Amino acid sequence: MTDKYYLIQEDAHQERVQLPVKRPVQGPLAVDVTKLYRNQGLFTYDPGFMSTASCESSITYIDGEAGILEYRGYPIEQLAAEADYIEVAYLLLYGELPNGEQLREFDDIITYHTMLNENLKDFFGGFHYDAHPMAIMVGVVGSLSAFYHDSLDINNPRHREISAHRLIAKMPTIAAASYKHNVGEPIIYPDNDLSYCANLLKMMFATPCEPYQAHPIAVQALNLLFILHADHEQNASTSTVRLAGSSQANPFACLAAGIASLWGPAHGGANEAVLNMLTEIGDVSRIDRYIAKAKDKKDPFRLMGFGHRVYKHYDPRANILREMCRTVLEELADSNNPMFELALRLEEIALKDDYFLARKLYPNVDFYSGIIYRALHIPNNMFTVMFAIARTVGWVSHWMEMMSDPLQRIGRPRQVYMGSPRRDFVPLDQR
Ligand code: CMC
Repeated sequence: MTDKYYLIQEDAHQERVQLPVKRPVQGPLAVDVTKLYRNQGLFTYDPGFMSTASCESSITYIDGEAGILEYRGYPIEQLAAEADYIEVAYLLLYGELPNGEQLREFDDIITYHTMLNENLKDFFGGFHYDAHPMAIMVGVVGSLSAFYHDSLDINNPRHREISAHRLIAKMPTIAAASYKHNVGEPIIYPDNDLSYCANLLKMMFATPCEPYQAHPIAVQALNLLFILHADHEQNASTSTVRLAGSSQANPFACLAAGIASLWGPAHGGANEAVLNMLTEIGDVSRIDRYIAKAKDKKDPFRLMGFGHRVYKHYDPRANILREMCRTVLEELADSNNPMFELALRLEEIALKDDYFLARKLYPNVDFYSGIIYRALHIPNNMFTVMFAIARTVGWVSHWMEMMSDPLQRIGRPRQVYMGSPRRDFVPLDQR
């Protein structure tokens, strides 16, 4: 760590403060303000964490200006082209790519943890038939701690690892059961002969009445989507998981908190919102009207799937997905899919518009993911659930990293109080 001087100035008050600076492997220097309050009696103010690093992490690196995303140092483009989701999950969780034997063993562990406790099935029946599957996910994942007491000692690294495996393995089973509850079909048990993604598709779309085999392109597309969504450093849901975990809460409760945060349309809910938006726009001739709405500050409408807190350049995941979208539509659906044509045209028009150019608003990962999910016959309300399945490994990797960090302490932001100054209580009859 190097020290730098910073000038703090308010009206007549001027002070030179010496603050240490953290030098990352990649990315901007970070001013370490942890002792600022103790030494100077000052807080820093940064709503939305615009310039604040909340932790040290070795999992994912993003350069938003250059459009770079790397998991454990490996570029996302290479992982997307070469790897399998389970391989990427191992990489995120353990820090290195697995060798053949490690991959086989990890794959077995995940496969053999996919079943749910039978009593958990009763939980699904308690939800209204048209409950949003994300509501079911929040509830059922949160309830897992009531079933797996044997691995809940968060101070035991082996327990933490078992919980991580259980979460990665059971998330598709819970997700598929949420869908089955929604459509009123019987829950399908996992099939240990299938890959992670093929198994998920089977649990969603098979019925006990007839054989089912997922289309290889559908499995390939899901594998790619899951790799691209597997982690994204300190986004809202991951930060939620970390903050919940910082109080020593159990990992199932932390993941339930992460799923709740992901649900919002500014985060994981955007993929569902993009499809709803494209449906509402309906036709290329109406794009201009919606571009105008997005630019109108009095109108709350935003172009969903556009813009990102970190990327001020193309989201590299959107580029990869645009190509997969084309392949999926050619192989599985109508290659002249009007939704895809509409999305391509919308992107083209927005990227020529000064408003979007000036603000560096580019398509993000969710702009094309919904169109692929739709071609796989996954309904809109399951899009964010798919994101949650893929992101589970990211969440647990960050939780594991945090739990083994010797500097870990409860997350407790400060505030800038703007309420009433001290005043005396006024009895009811005098107000
Ligand atoms: N449409 C129209 N204007 C936008 C959009 C948009 N999609 N996104 C940002 N802006 C404008 C915004 O109004 C502001 O303009 P001005 O400077 O004139 O006030 C400027 O761009 C900066 O926006 P911001 O809200 O300060 O940026 P942020 O970093 O706080 O928000 C965001 C990032 C992703 C929440 C936002 O871009 C957004 O709401 N996008 C649409 C939702 C979406 O696609 N979310 C998925 C994100 S990627 C997947 C994930 O991480 O979960």
